[in-house]
Amino acid sequence: MDQKSGVALVANTQALADFSSELLKRYSSSLKAITKSRWSLFETRLKTHLPGLLQLYLPLYSAQFDSYFHLEQLLKLLARAVAQRPDFLLAEDATPQHWHKSQAALGSACYVDLFADNFAGLAERIPYLQQTGINYLHLMPLFKAPEPNSDGGYAVSDYRSTMPALGTMPQLAELMQQLHQHGIRPVLDFVFNHTSDEHRWAQKAKAGDKTHQQYYFFFDQQEREQYAPWLREIFPEIRRGSFTFEPGTQRWIWTTFNSFQWDLNYANPAVFNAMAEEMLFLANQGAAVLRLDALAFVWKEAGTNCENLPKAHTLIRAFNAVARIAAPALQFKSEAIVHPDEVVKYIAPEECQLSYNPLLMALLWNSLATRKTRLLTESLQRRFAIDPQCSWVNYIRCHDDIGWTFDDNVAWQLGINPEHHRQFLNQFYTGQFSGSFASGVPFQQNPITGDCRVAGMLASLTGVEQALQQNDEAQQQRQLQQALARIFVLNSVILSIGGLPLIYMGDELGLLNDYSYQQDPAKRDDSRWVNRVKVSEQQLLSAKDPATLSGRIYQQLQQLIKIRSGLTLLGEGSTEILHSGNPHLFVYRRQLAQQSLLCVVNFSEYDQSYIAAMPGQWRDELTGQHLEGQTINVAPYQVLWLSISALK
Ligand code: GLC
Ligand code: GLC
Repeated sequence: MDQKSGVALVANTQALADFSSELLKRYSSSLKAITKSRWSLFETRLKTHLPGLLQLYLPLYSAQFDSYFHLEQLLKLLARAVAQRPDFLLAEDATPQHWHKSQAALGSACYVDLFADNFAGLAERIPYLQQTGINYLHLMPLFKAPEPNSDGGYAVSDYRSTMPALGTMPQLAELMQQLHQHGIRPVLDFVFNHTSDEHRWAQKAKAGDKTHQQYYFFFDQQEREQYAPWLREIFPEIRRGSFTFEPGTQRWIWTTFNSFQWDLNYANPAVFNAMAEEMLFLANQGAAVLRLDALAFVWKEAGTNCENLPKAHTLIRAFNAVARIAAPALQFKSEAIVHPDEVVKYIAPEECQLSYNPLLMALLWNSLATRKTRLLTESLQRRFAIDPQCSWVNYIRCHDDIGWTFDDNVAWQLGINPEHHRQFLNQFYTGQFSGSFASGVPFQQNPITGDCRVAGMLASLTGVEQALQQNDEAQQQRQLQQALARIFVLNSVILSIGGLPLIYMGDELGLLNDYSYQQDPAKRDDSRWVNRVKVSEQQLLSAKDPATLSGRIYQQLQQLIKIRSGLTLLGEGSTEILHSGNPHLFVYRRQLAQQSLLCVVNFSEYDQSYIAAMPGQWRDELTGQHLEGQTINVAPYQVLWLSISALK
């Protein structure tokens, strides 16, 4: 097939359907031999989804002289994945995946080694996860990776082996099945933008194998210059630019992140097929969700910034179509930490059903620092609505840095100079701004642009760390109380605004920054390690002890989780972000059929009043208190979840 006929096919639904059945006919006997008793299941799925897959695949690859060969390979790998899918997952495949729309859906993310040493240890921590209410667990990268530095596991040397210290792949599969049995959905990373330079494909490429060199970008100086000037530097403190010179081949390799993370070349259909196979392998080990790491970078075109290109979306949709055929229960979570207008483009039932919400994350921190909610309100009014079948993953902290990814135009409209404001936020959260409560550390200061991000644990960034350094007892108690109130405010929003709340392991206990990375040569250049902390048995036990600080933080979160799980409209409902009429209050309404809940959040340490549209009678679901009238007093850092109470 040539490019022209491929493109013509895609534009014509009937022709696409015909081509799809032609392929089915041509390969049915070999596919039957692979899928055996599952052939009719596979055939039905192909009939439904193959035209859709081709519609995405052909624009990417029909220009290839050997596109038929690659299509045949793709069909066969789909068949193998269906044949190998465990029974318990087949049952999941038959069920619609709406679990993230429940008011009880609650996520967490952890490093297996930091949280539980290894897979066996993690299985023992299932009771703790259940006690906390967690039913979605992202196990941070655990694949075989270079040592000692692997970008926290995001440089994968083999998608089918794990780091030996954690256990084996079969043990991981067993753990994931156990998690499923306990109602906890396991989430793994699909690190598909790059592999490590120790991956066998990279090794072969280094050794001169032309086929595998085409898996990556091997450029001479001139080729490099067709791309380099337009690219953003992601880790400027570690290495300038996005290319690494490879002495063996005397070529430049595309490395968006660290020098040992080699970007994959998706213009090559062999790469798509190979990665589709790895993806389905992970799905068949038991992953319910794959977190699509660094997905904004996966498609490259000369003369562009190579982020968020239209074909990146085509590619992700093609992977999604692959999942619909071979692992229908699988859901994708987008990790697009980019401009808010771009973040939402990855969210669709046929692309990523879930997405991190970096805008909410960044602007919650902004509101805590400024005590003002205008930027939060204005930004979310534009960028919170998504397809009702999809869900935001709302988080406060994660293993990465906080980047200030708000829309500059919205800032300008509010009279905020975005560049100056980002500088202020960086200073505020790294404790360089006088009066700041935060103890964060700078991450990746760019010497040319001055750009910078912030790292730190929730408790350290909200003021707990500073309070504990205070000598004056009364002063310390006051500061602690405020820090805990800030944590409560942030948690209340991610638990009620709509979407799946994601709690970063350790934050539920208020664990502080760990500065020991500064002594470790493999970690000291990457300050994100400050917020990758070990969780001890003792700390887990303190969850139940309200006499400890961890216990207090855990209990106040538990209170929110419990109340939320009784309010259906915090799962299924829709969200309307309202103008609060008070610059310190953030107000939104959740709605489900006739029910509604008005959430009012005070981001300042002073009393504020909220003037409702009309006088009314409310019940605060958080305290059970009844309120009446039109003007509502909101105490410092208070949160109100107001439902309309029946007239007396
Ligand atoms: C994602 C990960 C981050 C990693 C990067 C490169 O952004 O969250 O930790 O450094 O991708 O894989
Ligand atoms: C991510 C983001 C970048 C982030 C980095 C990890 O993919 O694009 O902003 O900070 O990688 O830290």
